[in-house]
Amino acid sequence: MARVDPHSYYDDAQPRTKRWQLELRVDFDRQVLDGRVVLELERPSGGTFDLDSKALVIHSVRTQDGGIVPFEVGEDKEILGERLRLQLPPGTREVSIAYTTSPGAVALQWLAPTQTDGKRHPFLFSQCQAIHARSMVPCQDTPVVRVAYRAAITIPEPLAAVMSAGPAGVRPGPQPGTHTFLFEMPQPIPPYLLALAVGDLDSRDLSPRSRVWAEPGVVKAAAWEFAEIESMIVKAESLFGPYEWERYDMLVLPPSFPYGGMENPRMTFLTPTLLAGDRSLVDVVAHELAHSWTGNLVTNATAEHFWLNEGATVWAERRIREALHGVDDAVLGWAIGQNALDESMQRFGAESALTRLRTELEGVDPDDVFSTVPYEKGSRFLALIENTVGRSSFDRFMRDYMARYRFTSITTEEFVDFLESKLPGTAAKVDAKTWLYAPGLPANSPVFRSASLDALVQLAGKWGQGARPSPEQVAGWNPSELVVYLQNLPRQLDAASCDWLDAKLGLTQRGNYEILVEWLTIAAGSDHAPVFDRLREVLTRVGRMKYLRPLYTALGRHPRTRVLAAEIFAAASPTYHSLSRRVVQGILEKYAA
Ligand code: BES
Ligand code: ZN
Repeated sequence: MARVDPHSYYDDAQPRTKRWQLELRVDFDRQVLDGRVVLELERPSGGTFDLDSKALVIHSVRTQDGGIVPFEVGEDKEILGERLRLQLPPGTREVSIAYTTSPGAVALQWLAPTQTDGKRHPFLFSQCQAIHARSMVPCQDTPVVRVAYRAAITIPEPLAAVMSAGPAGVRPGPQPGTHTFLFEMPQPIPPYLLALAVGDLDSRDLSPRSRVWAEPGVVKAAAWEFAEIESMIVKAESLFGPYEWERYDMLVLPPSFPYGGMENPRMTFLTPTLLAGDRSLVDVVAHELAHSWTGNLVTNATAEHFWLNEGATVWAERRIREALHGVDDAVLGWAIGQNALDESMQRFGAESALTRLRTELEGVDPDDVFSTVPYEKGSRFLALIENTVGRSSFDRFMRDYMARYRFTSITTEEFVDFLESKLPGTAAKVDAKTWLYAPGLPANSPVFRSASLDALVQLAGKWGQGARPSPEQVAGWNPSELVVYLQNLPRQLDAASCDWLDAKLGLTQRGNYEILVEWLTIAAGSDHAPVFDRLREVLTRVGRMKYLRPLYTALGRHPRTRVLAAEIFAAASPTYHSLSRRVVQGILEKYAA
């Protein structure tokens, strides 16, 4: 009997949960979920049964027959939370736990009406990855234990609810002015894929199996931006096999959503910063869609094998991108990824154990060590194997891999064993041990190049010698090319250079956040006062950590911008997601050091 996941109290000698039945009321006034969960066990069991919980108030625990189940809530451990230990009477098949979440539940962000587009209704959304499901439901919160679920969610009448599940109807609620949304997720998923959002939501059909949800004022733009989703799904299916989850719906959240996207099955959650008005940021959708295979079908056993989820998904995302837009466009994705990888390697130091693919995270909070390493180093490892064995062999391998491990959660070591069994000798040829267990980026990392990428990098590299793009050149760049150009400029420029760039490239007023944030990062690092208002606007409105991190970091370079950062943070932080707030706090604390 042993714990198998450093981030969970789950003990593999104890029975697994096979399904949850959730019955919850969403209380916007108290900012809590209140109700119960029935955990169905894989077999009738008795004795000690440990669950993860965080800041939950447990009212009572009963068996399927109403028998009382003694329980004990352990001390609150910093990362794990509280162990909820039940003593099951023999023959227990189901336990029903009545509980209430706390207003500070990490998984949940409760938005005031002012933080929404419509300004009239509150909004609630969840984010359970990596280990926050336990603040929403008492459960075995490890990807090793997959669960199907059913849910009945009671919410105030004007609002609608969506979940990472199939919709199963709406009925009048138990209290006046409420209605209850029913959901069913028949396939077993890791707990981190539990997801719920409640708000003033409207939707548009994009294809027979895809629909986008958003606030009424946003839904039209969202439907336009993601209109081509069906062709993306069809491409992904041709690469990775049939789409297994019936529907692929998307929800565009308010701007405080801390990620670009979250692959909640049947209902991808997306940041509204993707609504650039030019369909140029749909690679994030390609990424979340790709998780339908890599991650949601085949899942990392624990956060120590996170690269299996994200590395494979970035590889898949770029294959989709190549299939849809050609190899030169995919190369731009790899180049932007390399830039992010270099930044992470620098931040951790190339000798840091956090730059390994297979990590050791006992006593480490996965949110604290989140970086692009598992994404970009992981995808390069797979691309190297692809280059080594040839594309058609590798494609066959990936399909076999997904078929073999579908609906299971696996470790790095299982991946390597499978690689060895299907493509013997490959692991040695690519030096898989170094890739997986050593820090840094190995010398045999694949290089992705194209003529247009080389030209952009060269031009930007000669900024100091006076090289400037002509208006014709600039007009010919697509958004990714402009991002690559900006990323290769010096991190600090003089005022005249900043003025030139802004005047010629029209950067400060861009609506494309990838371009805007790249520019504002340079401008902030250059102490360029004309952008301060726009910086304040962006940092106040947007909670996406990918943008907060570089902007607040760049603001740390100069005394004046440090003051500005502190001032903006003081005003904006109450509206940030708790995860975003923590990340920014960490950055601001480093200013002082
Ligand atoms: N699953 C991740 C988001 C995540 C990771 C949430 C770890 C919590 C813990 C999602 O698929 C993701 O990677 N999103 C990226 C977009 C992508 C194109 C790299 C993001 O949010 O920027
Ligand atoms: Zn991902």
